[in-house]
Amino acid sequence: MKNCKFCWVITLVLAVMVVGMGYFFLFKGNTFLGEDGRTAIVLSEGEKASVLGEMRDMLEGVQIITGAIAVNDMERVSEAASALGMVVANADSPELIAKLPLEVKTLGLGAHAAFDNLSEMAKTTQDPNEVLAELSDMMLACVSCHDGYRIAIEDLDE
Ligand code: HEC
Repeated sequence: MKNCKFCWVITLVLAVMVVGMGYFFLFKGNTFLGEDGRTAIVLSEGEKASVLGEMRDMLEGVQIITGAIAVNDMERVSEAASALGMVVANADSPELIAKLPLEVKTLGLGAHAAFDNLSEMAKTTQDPNEVLAELSDMMLACVSCHDGYRIAIEDLDE
C-alpha cells in the first residue's frame, strides 16, 4: 500500500469530481451563456412557469405597495409585502433551487427577505417616503437579476 500510485490517481480523480460537483451546485447552477449576453438558467417547463408566476406576483405586489404608499395606507403595504416574503422562497422545490447559480439564489432570497423587512418597517414608520425609498432600494435586486439572467427550457430529447 505504501506505493499505491493507482490509489493516488483514484483519490485525485475523486477529489476533482467532488470539487467540480461542489462548484456546479454552489456557484454555477444549471446554466449557459445566452446569445443576448445574459446567463441562461436551464429549467423544465413547469419550473419556468412557477418562477414566472412568482415574478408576476412580485410585480403585482409592487404595484399594490406603491399605490398604498401614495394614500398612506401602511397596513396594506405591510400585508402586501409580507405575502412576498420568505414564505414564498420556502415553498420553492429543492430541485429548482439546485439549478440556480449562487448569485441568483442570493439575490432571490435577499429580495424575499427584503419584503419581510419592508412589511415590518411599514408597521412602525410614520413616514411613507421612508418606505418608498426602501422599496426603490429593494428593486435594485429586480433590476440586477434581470440584467444578468434569463430562463431557458431544458431539451428533453438530448
Ligand atoms: C434572483 C433573480 C430575480 C430577481 C431578484 C427578480 N427577478 Fe423577475 N425574473 C427573473 C428571471 C430570470 C426572469 C425571466 C426572464 C427571461 O427569461 O427573459 C424574470 C421575469 C420576470 C417577469 C416576467 C414574468 C412573465 O410572466 O414573463 C416579471 C414581471 C418580473 N420578473 C418581475 C420582478 C420584480 C418586480 C422583481 C423584484 C421585486 C423581480 N422580478 C426580481 C429573475 C429575477
